[in-house]
Amino acid sequence: MNRHPEIERRKTFAIISHPDAGKTTLTEKFLLFGGAINTAGAVKRNKANQNTTSDFMEIEKQRGISVATSVMGFEYRDKRVNILDTPGHKDFAEDTYRTLSAVDSVILVVDSVKGVEEQTEKLMEVCRMRNTPVIIFINKLDREGKDPFDLLDELETKLTISVCPQSWPIGQGYTFKGVYNIYDNQLSLFEADKTRISEPVIQAADLHDPVLGQYLQEKQLDKLKGDLELVEGIYGKLDKEMYLEGLLAPVFFGSAINNFGIRELLDTFIDIAPSPFSRDAEQRTVLANEKDFTGFVFKIHANLDPKHRDRIAFLRICSGKFERNKFYYHTRQDKKLKFSNPMDFMANDKTLVEEAWPGDVVGLYDSGNFKIGDTLTEGEKLQFKGIPSFSPEIFKEVENRDPMKTKQLEKGIQQLTEEGVAQLFIQQPGNRKIIGAVGALQFEVINFRLENEYGAKCAFRPLSYSRSSWITSKDKKHLQEIMQRRASHIGFDKDGNPVFLADNDWAINLAKRDFPEIDFHTTSEFRKAES
Ligand code: G4P
Repeated sequence: MNRHPEIERRKTFAIISHPDAGKTTLTEKFLLFGGAINTAGAVKRNKANQNTTSDFMEIEKQRGISVATSVMGFEYRDKRVNILDTPGHKDFAEDTYRTLSAVDSVILVVDSVKGVEEQTEKLMEVCRMRNTPVIIFINKLDREGKDPFDLLDELETKLTISVCPQSWPIGQGYTFKGVYNIYDNQLSLFEADKTRISEPVIQAADLHDPVLGQYLQEKQLDKLKGDLELVEGIYGKLDKEMYLEGLLAPVFFGSAINNFGIRELLDTFIDIAPSPFSRDAEQRTVLANEKDFTGFVFKIHANLDPKHRDRIAFLRICSGKFERNKFYYHTRQDKKLKFSNPMDFMANDKTLVEEAWPGDVVGLYDSGNFKIGDTLTEGEKLQFKGIPSFSPEIFKEVENRDPMKTKQLEKGIQQLTEEGVAQLFIQQPGNRKIIGAVGALQFEVINFRLENEYGAKCAFRPLSYSRSSWITSKDKKHLQEIMQRRASHIGFDKDGNPVFLADNDWAINLAKRDFPEIDFHTTSEFRKAES
């Protein structure tokens, strides 16, 4: 089927990494290449204080930055590239997972000195759940890092994905000479220079071309030949289909801060990364090329001005064409809405969007209509899949500290959890509110925002739970049974689904043994995650 050229030319992706591996630096270099910014430093580091101290100004700053850089779009080689920003701080991992539901591929940055880190593994698990195609960039080759073969081994074993190097480093740290582009037979020569846009590139016919001898010492050239023989034997040629299925990751080496190895990474990305294709809804698979518009909300951001309660809902377009001032169908609320000010956000600039295509993200001003995961269509009853909630790790009960402000507290908790700051579980009897979050910082954010935006005061009472499992059963009787016999461990999520709250894995295993008819799920999106 012929696809609309506007869909074909869109590449929507996220750059992900363990904090400090170089995500911000790489994003910035891409934007420089794309002409979206003129100077380095224009993209602020999107992270709150790494040490999770309660620096509220830092949190506020972070919120400001993350609206401004939510989507960074630029044109490169006739393609429209959309980079979706993800927070760096690990306590905001849940935000990152949701953003990953809105991209068509990712670039994963790995620090050559540190190798695969904890957050890298977690992010990769999410990519694998959705078979998202991944390109890996091994950064900081200007530092004394791990051996490249060891790094590739580590990627394969820790990330459970096959890899296929596209470039190969010659030395590293002090001896870093450059990289050899395996399939184009190009030698890129390294110079530490943060201001340069691209590096000198030497074209060779093959590895035996005498031109290489002019730039590399004999020892370096011999080592390169030996390495590449091994690379070819072990990793073979890039199988693009496997990449698109999320089974194989092309790997590049470079140094983001020195703008080295970035151009070939970007060029390959443009060549092979997928354009928007299809998205699964509960009811059916929606093709990007369908005539009718569909889209879903993957992120909600509160207005930074507390006097204005409206929020910005970020909508990923999945099919058709989104148009300003047209009525669309909000499937969960069963009502029609029209948007007169849909926005495009880019480095502190807001522009009005007249129309948007699959792969694009628009910001919609919202006065409380949206929850994360909501679907908009032209009338069809659809619900997109792919935005599961994951088990939080810290659980605390909300205690109202100002009975005069009970309503404000209720509203604040509801809105903040709808925004996805943390998850809310209701426990009976007494409608007890339990907040579950991935990190401690979220509780600080909630406390601070409840007071500042809603005028409500609360305290958090620590609970011993550290896991949540969504529970289902083919037979309702069994579900009733566990809910009665383990009442003190049952909560209900935002959609009213029963959740088993446990202190640790051992307790979950025990419950699994005691209730063999119950299925326990690690994410809220059972069918997809567990299949
Ligand atoms: P992140 O978004 O993944 O958290 O990482 P970010 O880009 O902020 O980079 C983390 C640190 O690593 C920064 O140093 C950055 O300058 C440095 N860095 C990025 N790419 C390279 C590289 O290729 N080589 C080397 N040697 N360093 C690199 P910082 O000191 O934390 O911050 P800054 O003061 O330089 O901004």
